[in-house]
Amino acid sequence: MLVQAYNLTAHAFLLFLLFSYIISTNIHACKQTERSSLLSFTSTLSSPPLNWTSLDCCRWKGITCNQDGWVTRLLLPSKGLKGGISPSSLANLTHLTHLNLSHNSLLGSLETRFFLSLNRLEILDLSYNRLSGELPLSLLSSNIRTVNLSSNHLSGAIPSSFFQQTSNLTSFNVSNNTFTGYVPSSICLHYSPSLRLLDFSSNAFNGKLAPGLGKCSKLQVFRAGHNNLLGILPEDIYNATKLEEIALPFNSLRGAISDKIVNLTNLAILDLSFNHFGGELPLNLGKLSKLKFLTLDFNNLEGAFPPSLMNCTNLVELRLQSNHLEGDISMLDFSRLSQLTKLDLRMNNFTGTVPVSLYSCRSLKAIALAHNNLEGQIHAGILSLKYLSFLSLGYNRFTNLTGAMKILMSCTSLNTLMLGGFVTGEGMPADDDMVDFDGFQNLRFLSLASCQLTGQIPLWLSKLKNLEVLFLDYNQFTGPIPSWLGTLPRLLYITLRQNRISGEFPKGLCRLPRLVREPNTASQVEDFEFELPLTTNGTVNPIFMPHRLSYFAALIDLSNNNISGYIPAEIGQLQLLRELSLHSNNFSGVIPDQISNLKNLEVLYLNMNHLSGIIPSSLASLNFLKEFNVSYNNLEGSIPTSTQLQSFEASAFEGNPKLCGAPLPNKCEPNKGIDADNKNNKDVHNWLHQLPWFYIFTALGFIVGFWGVCGCLIINKTWRYAYFRFIDDVQDRLYVMVIVRINTMKRRLRG
Ligand SMILES: *[C@@H]1O[C@H](CO)[C@@H](O)[C@H](O)[C@H]1NC(C)=O
Ligand SMILES: *[C@@H]1O[C@H](CO)[C@@H](O)[C@H](O)[C@H]1NC(C)=O
Ligand SMILES: *[C@@H]1O[C@H](CO)[C@@H](O)[C@H](O)[C@H]1NC(C)=O
Ligand SMILES: *[C@@H]1O[C@H](CO)[C@@H](O)[C@H](O)[C@H]1NC(C)=O
Ligand SMILES: *[C@@H]1O[C@H](CO)[C@@H](O)[C@H](O)[C@H]1NC(C)=O
Ligand SMILES: *[C@@H]1O[C@H](CO)[C@@H](O)[C@H](O)[C@H]1NC(C)=O
Ligand SMILES: *[C@@H]1O[C@H](CO)[C@@H](O)[C@H](O)[C@H]1NC(C)=O
Ligand SMILES: *[C@@H]1O[C@H](CO)[C@@H](O)[C@H](O)[C@H]1NC(C)=O
Ligand SMILES: *[C@@H]1O[C@H](CO)[C@@H](O)[C@H](O)[C@H]1NC(C)=O
Ligand SMILES: *[C@@H]1O[C@H](CO)[C@@H](O)[C@H](O)[C@H]1NC(C)=O
Ligand SMILES: *[C@@H]1O[C@H](CO)[C@@H](O)[C@H](O)[C@H]1NC(C)=O
Ligand SMILES: *[C@@H]1O[C@H](CO)[C@@H](O)[C@H](O)[C@H]1NC(C)=O
Repeated sequence: MLVQAYNLTAHAFLLFLLFSYIISTNIHACKQTERSSLLSFTSTLSSPPLNWTSLDCCRWKGITCNQDGWVTRLLLPSKGLKGGISPSSLANLTHLTHLNLSHNSLLGSLETRFFLSLNRLEILDLSYNRLSGELPLSLLSSNIRTVNLSSNHLSGAIPSSFFQQTSNLTSFNVSNNTFTGYVPSSICLHYSPSLRLLDFSSNAFNGKLAPGLGKCSKLQVFRAGHNNLLGILPEDIYNATKLEEIALPFNSLRGAISDKIVNLTNLAILDLSFNHFGGELPLNLGKLSKLKFLTLDFNNLEGAFPPSLMNCTNLVELRLQSNHLEGDISMLDFSRLSQLTKLDLRMNNFTGTVPVSLYSCRSLKAIALAHNNLEGQIHAGILSLKYLSFLSLGYNRFTNLTGAMKILMSCTSLNTLMLGGFVTGEGMPADDDMVDFDGFQNLRFLSLASCQLTGQIPLWLSKLKNLEVLFLDYNQFTGPIPSWLGTLPRLLYITLRQNRISGEFPKGLCRLPRLVREPNTASQVEDFEFELPLTTNGTVNPIFMPHRLSYFAALIDLSNNNISGYIPAEIGQLQLLRELSLHSNNFSGVIPDQISNLKNLEVLYLNMNHLSGIIPSSLASLNFLKEFNVSYNNLEGSIPTSTQLQSFEASAFEGNPKLCGAPLPNKCEPNKGIDADNKNNKDVHNWLHQLPWFYIFTALGFIVGFWGVCGCLIINKTWRYAYFRFIDDVQDRLYVMVIVRINTMKRRLRG
C-alpha cells in the first residue's frame, strides 16, 4: 500500500514536472514558423557561425521573443554577416519591433515586400551595409520611430509618400548614400510631426530646399551637408525653434542669413561653410546664447563682425575664414568667451590690431588671422594662452618679426606656427640670446616664407628638436646652407626655394635622421592633426587644405638659388626622400649615380643648372618617379631606356644639345651616343674633360671587343642577349666611374 501510494505520488510529481516543462517551454519556445524564417534568413548569408542550433530560437543570440513566442527583436550588429538580405524571410517575422543589422556586409535592395508585413517595426537600423537600389514607395509601419539607413549604396529619390504612415517617426538618417532628387522637407507638414533628427548629408540631393521644416516643431538636428542643394534657405526653417543643430556645409546655397535666426534660441551648432551665402551677418546673432560652433567659412559674407557675438559665452569654435568681412577688430571684447578653443578669421578684410582681449580666452588652442589687413606687433599677453598650439598670422601688415619670435619662443604648447608673409623686408631674427634660449620646445611646423627676410639662416633653428616641416622659401636669405641643418632629428621637409643662398650642397644635409633609413627614429614620430586646416599661401584651393602633418612628404627644395659645386654622392643616403628639387642653381659636375638609391623619389628637378656627363642609367630604376626634369644643362649621351624616363615629355630633357634618344626627337648615332666633342663647355677645367675621353674609349673599345668576341662564341640566343645587356651596363658604369673620378680631381684642384 505504502509502496503504491508512494508510486502514485511519484507519478503525479513526474506528471507535474512534465506539464510544467511543457508549459514553460511553450511560453518561451519560439514558433516553428519563426524558427524557419530565421534560418532561411541566415541561409542566404555567409558569415561566421551564429550558433543557432538549439531547438528554441528564442534563446538564440540576438533574438528576443514575446510571451507568445513571436520574435520581436533581431539584433545582429557587427556580426560579419555577408551576402544577400532575403526580404521574404524577414518579412515573415511579422511581430518584429526592433531590427538592427548595422555594420555588416549585407547586399540587396529593400523591396516593398520587406516593409509590407513588418508593420510593428519601431526601430530599423541597417546602417553600414552595402544595400542598394531605391526605397519602396512607402514605409508601412505606423509604429516606426527610428530609421537608420546611413552608409549604404542606396539611390533614387525619397518620395514624400514614403512617410505617409510614419506619424511617430523621430529619427531618419539616410546619410552617406547616393540619393538624388529633392530633400523631402515637407515631411513634418503632412506626416511626421515628431521628428527630432533628419540626416540627409553626403548624398547627391539637389534642387532647392522646399519649405516645410518650419512645421517640425520638435526637430533638433537637421543635416544635409555635402549635397548639391541650391537656392536660399526657406524662411520657415526659423520657425523650427527646437533646432539645436543646422549643418549644411558643402552645398551651393545662397542668400543672406535671416535676422529671424535669432528665434532659434536652442541653436548650438550652425555650419553653413562652403556655400555661397552672402549679405551681412545678423547683428543680433549674439542672442543665440547657446551657440557653441559657428562655422561659416568659405562663403561671401560681407560687412562687419557682429559685436553681439561676444555675448555667446558658450562659443567653442568661431570660424569665418574666407569671406569678405571687414572692419576694425581691435576693440572686440573676447574676454567672456572662456570656452573658445578655435578662432579662424583668415582671408577676410579685417583691419586694426590683434584684439588684446583675445589673450584672456584661456581655452584657445588655435588662432588664425592670416590674410587680412591687420597691423601692429605681437603682444607678450599671448603667453597667457597655455594651450595655444596653432598660430597663423601671415599675410597681414604686422611688423617686428624679431620681437614676435622672441615672445612666441616661450609658447610651450605651440606646434604649428605659420608666419609666411608676416612682415616684409625685415632682417631674419638671429640674436645670440635666441640660440641660448631653449624655445619652441614643441614646434613641429614653422613657416617664415614670403617675408623678404634678409640675412643668413640663423643658428637658433638648430635648437628646434621637434621641427618636422620648415618653410623658408621666397625670402632673400644669403650665405650658405648650414651643415647643422642635417642634425635636426625630426626634420623631413625643408624648402629654401627662391632665395639667394650660395655655397655648396652641404654633405651634412645628407644625414637628416628622418630621411636616412633608420626605422627607430622614424617610427617614434607620430602624425598629428592641425587644429585648423592649413592655408599655405594666398591662392587657396579649398579642397586642398592640409589637415595632417603627414600631408607633407619628405622634401628638400633648394631651387632658385645660387648654389654651386657638385651634387654630393652622399645624397644617396636620403633614402626616404620623396621630392628633390635643385633646379635653377649653379650646380655642376655629373648627376651622381647614387641618386638611384632614393627609391622613394617621386619628384626630381635638376633643370637649369650646369650639370654635365650622362644621365646615369640607374635612374631608370626609380619606379615611383612622377615628375622629372633635367632640361637646360650640359648633359650628353643617350637617355637611358626605360619605361620610366621615356614616359616624360621631351621638354624634360630639352636644352641639352648633346643629349639624344627618346623622348627627344634626335636619334643617337650608333657608337656615338657619347659625344666627346665638348666645345661649348665654358668650364675652366675644360682640358680635364678632354683628357679622359681617350681612356674611356680605349677601355670601352677593349670591353666591347673582348665581350663581343666572348658573346659571339655563345650560340644560344638568350645568352647572347644577356651578354650584350651586360656589356651595355659595364660601359655605363665604367663611364660614370671615370666621370666621378674627374669630378673628385676637379674638386681637389679647387680645394
Ligand atoms: C559561436 O561559437 C563559437 C565557438 O564557441 C564562438 O567562437 C563564436 O564566437 C560563436 N558565435 C557567436 C556569434 O556567438
Ligand atoms: C513566409 O510565409 C509564407 C506564408 O505564410 C510562406 O509561404 C513562405 O514560405 C514563408 N517564407 C519563408 C522564407 O519562411
Ligand atoms: C544598433 O547596434 C549598434 C551596435 O550595437 C548600436 O551602436 C546602434 O545604436 C544600434 N541602433 C539603434 C537604432 O539602436
Ligand atoms: C504613437 O506613439 C504613441 C505613444 O507612444 C502611441 O500612443 C500611438 O498609438 C502611436 N501612434 C501610432 C500611429 O502608432
Ligand atoms: C542609427 O541612428 C540612430 C538614431 O539616430 C542611432 O541611435 C543609432 O546609433 C544609429 N546607428 C549606428 C550604427 O550608429
Ligand atoms: C560612408 O560609407 C562608406 C561605405 O559606403 C563607408 O566606407 C564610409 O566609412 C562611410 N563614411 C562615413 C563618414 O561614415
Ligand atoms: C512661423 O510661425 C509664425 C507663428 O507661428 C507664423 O505666423 C508664420 O507664418 C510662420 N512662418 C512661416 C514662414 O511659416
Ligand atoms: C520669433 O519670435 C517672436 C517672439 O518670440 C515671434 O513673435 C515671431 O513671430 C517669431 N518669428 C518667427 C519667424 O517665427
Ligand atoms: C550683450 O548682452 C547684454 C545683456 O543681455 C546686452 O545688454 C548687450 O547689449 C549685449 N551686447 C551686445 C554687443 O550685443
Ligand atoms: C578688401 O577690400 C578691398 C577694398 O575695400 C577690396 O578691393 C578687396 O576685394 C577686399 N578683399 C576681400 C578679400 O574681400
Ligand atoms: C620689437 O618687439 C620687442 C618685443 O616685444 C620689443 O622689445 C622691441 O622694442 C620691438 N621693436 C620695435 C622696433 O618695435
Ligand atoms: C604662393 O605660391 C606661389 C608659388 O606656388 C607664389 O608664386 C606666390 O607668390 C605665393 N603667394 C604668396 C602670397 O606668397
